[in-house]
Amino acid sequence: MDKYIIEGGAPLYGSVRVQSAKNAVLPLLAASVLTEERVIIRRCPRICDVLHMTEILGELGCKTRFEGDALVIDGADAANHEIPAALAKEMRSSVFLLGSVVARFGKARIAYPGGCDIGLRPVDLHLKGLRRLNVRVEEEGGYINCASDRLKGAEIVLDCPSVGATENIMLASVKGEGTTVLRNAAKEPEIRDLQDFLNRMGAKVRGAGTGTVRIEGVRALHGVEYTPMPDRIEAGTFLIAAAMCGGEIAVEGASAENLAALIDKLREISCKIAVKDDKIYIKSDGERRSLRLIETMPYPGFPTDLQAPATALACICEGSAVIVENLFETRFKHVPELIRMGADVVVRGRAAFVRGVPALHGADVAAGDLRGGAALTLAAISAEGRSTVTDLSHIDRGYSGFEYKLAALGAKIRRIRV
Ligand code: EPZ
Repeated sequence: MDKYIIEGGAPLYGSVRVQSAKNAVLPLLAASVLTEERVIIRRCPRICDVLHMTEILGELGCKTRFEGDALVIDGADAANHEIPAALAKEMRSSVFLLGSVVARFGKARIAYPGGCDIGLRPVDLHLKGLRRLNVRVEEEGGYINCASDRLKGAEIVLDCPSVGATENIMLASVKGEGTTVLRNAAKEPEIRDLQDFLNRMGAKVRGAGTGTVRIEGVRALHGVEYTPMPDRIEAGTFLIAAAMCGGEIAVEGASAENLAALIDKLREISCKIAVKDDKIYIKSDGERRSLRLIETMPYPGFPTDLQAPATALACICEGSAVIVENLFETRFKHVPELIRMGADVVVRGRAAFVRGVPALHGADVAAGDLRGGAALTLAAISAEGRSTVTDLSHIDRGYSGFEYKLAALGAKIRRIRV
């Protein structure tokens, strides 16, 4: 077990380059099963979710290896359609493989997926979409069994714009017979990245990002070399870090367009933000007016994955703020730990009522999930005094070199093995 030792209070200066987006890379890895040819993912982050996904691909018979920062996947020998429970339970994105595995082999068997404990996280929309594409789906004993003699295009309307269901349906239908029209699809930038990736493999997908995605089935897909989009959530995490600690940093390799909702909020509390090419500059002199209200929404609304870091920021803003988490049922596990650092927060259902304090103080806290762990780390580097953060495995799932990047910006943080 590792832990962070943090001496809070240092302002942040310098620049940080963001990794490729975890939530883009994971569906791209699922898509690599759709071809027998070589797939190369450049600038692939070595985060635990990616490493777990390569283990799952290995179980299917794919060969994966890193060559520098590129992940090489050879799927020619893939022949197994079953994803073992031990691996499926490790993370949510194993469910994306249903679509690509059933498209490749005509069948798929996977245990109910795991992932961050942030809510019920049903997969009913994934299964509804697959059934509409002529897939027989049976759920028994904690497993999902899929089979189809021929995937057929269909008109599908999602009850809610689920990111994963959108991606699963795209993956299942790209080699189907005929055209699929998917309405009320998620508009997240990662969906556009998946569309670009699939089209570079020879697919015919259009409309990603608009809410209606059209997939015209093709006979086969070929290999591809691809550099995924930057991680907008990692970029947002560093912008919030600067807002909390004060100072002036540049977040490089990020798209400001993908972070418009957060940037608007940071300007509202009086951070100075400028954008030039793929760099986002933020300057904070320590003044933090009230955040007032944050409501997480599907893209382009405020991203749920930045709710925890934003809640930590709200704790040291002037006045009070209400943070409403509309997407997941239990995504406030970081709040009790923030309270131990001196935060004044009350949670009722999906809303956190925050009253700002001048500063948090150090404490020994534990990460409860990926983004909550990042939030607690930001709270600790901005707090007065010494903190420790444990259960870093949550953070390692989605942030590569998190402590190194923060230390390079001036945070007094180090990781020790206990
Ligand atoms: C993806 O999860 C991301 N994960 C999550 O990031 C992100 O928080 C989420 O999208 C929302 O943006 C990956 O991309 C690997 P959803 P996903 O399906 O696909 C309901 C992180 O921290 N729903 O869009 O699981 C669901 O209950 C992670 O990086 C159904 O009702 O999210 C939730 O309320 C956490 N039925 C809402 O949709 C379904 O079949 C959004 O879920 C599917 C979802």
